[in-house]
Amino acid sequence: MPIPVILDCDPGHDDAMAILLAVAHPAIDLRAVATVAGNQTVEKTALNARRMLSLAGVTGVPVAAGCDRPLAAPLEIGDYVHGESGLDGPAFGEPSVPLDPRHGVDLIHDTLAAAAEPVTVVAIGPLTNIATLLRRHPEDRERIREVVIMGGSTDRGNHTPYAEFNVYADPEAAAEVLGSGVPTTWVGLNVSHQALVTADVLARIEALGTPLARVCVELLTFFGSTYHETWGFPAPPLHDPITVAYLIDPTVMTYERVGLRVELDGPHTRGATVADLHRRMDWEPNANVGIGLDRDRFWDLMIGAIEALGRAS
Ligand code: RIB
Ligand code: CA
Repeated sequence: MPIPVILDCDPGHDDAMAILLAVAHPAIDLRAVATVAGNQTVEKTALNARRMLSLAGVTGVPVAAGCDRPLAAPLEIGDYVHGESGLDGPAFGEPSVPLDPRHGVDLIHDTLAAAAEPVTVVAIGPLTNIATLLRRHPEDRERIREVVIMGGSTDRGNHTPYAEFNVYADPEAAAEVLGSGVPTTWVGLNVSHQALVTADVLARIEALGTPLARVCVELLTFFGSTYHETWGFPAPPLHDPITVAYLIDPTVMTYERVGLRVELDGPHTRGATVADLHRRMDWEPNANVGIGLDRDRFWDLMIGAIEALGRAS
């Protein structure tokens, strides 16, 4: 049975690839897409989500813009990685997918309320929408099967030395979602840095030879340029699609159930995620924290999605 999924995202180059994987694979029933301020402003992330669904030839999946700023933190956007548009690289035409007039949080709530069974929320941007949903509609906790989050890290950060961008951008939201009692699985940088878009991967995508594959190569080439400029990476880590790949095939990622905390007050470490992997603290295990990645399986799923959509569109 396909897994009902709501995607909460901030496209963003790697979010864009997560959208492709979610719409391409039959194991995923994508019910709705909400966007949030993060990699770019919420207006731009909503436009980019519409662009990617239009590119994939997908209709009937509502897209709505959610929160335009964090719960409490000042807004910081990731334009130094994703560019002025949030999807720099290719030239996009006007999307055919419309913008749903609802607020993204209302779209998530309505989608959960309409579902006959609990829905999996895939959250691959700052967690502002999800925390706001749980504040406004505590009854939705029961309607969410789990939240699979791209966020945090069991070691160092990226946006700051110890904080990963999605959690750093809205650490209060991350802490509230973590503490909400809704089951969470975290795909941190320690996992996503195992999924580098190497030259071999790029060549496999290029070899597909479809217009969609060419757009993906342009997206990933731009993404690689900013990752190299900013952090000296030889190839960019494709963070977000790992969440979707894990839902499709749970063997893609191994995890440990451990005590996890979000640092809110450290003057140098705010937004850091602290995973008690060696069980040194007396913390109740409260999260599934990703550890290992089956790269080959991940890339087969990701490239297989681009191939399938390229043939269809
Ligand atoms: O730190 C990586 C995360 O921040 C990814 O989700 C990327 O898209 C940005 O949102
Ligand atoms: Ca993202």
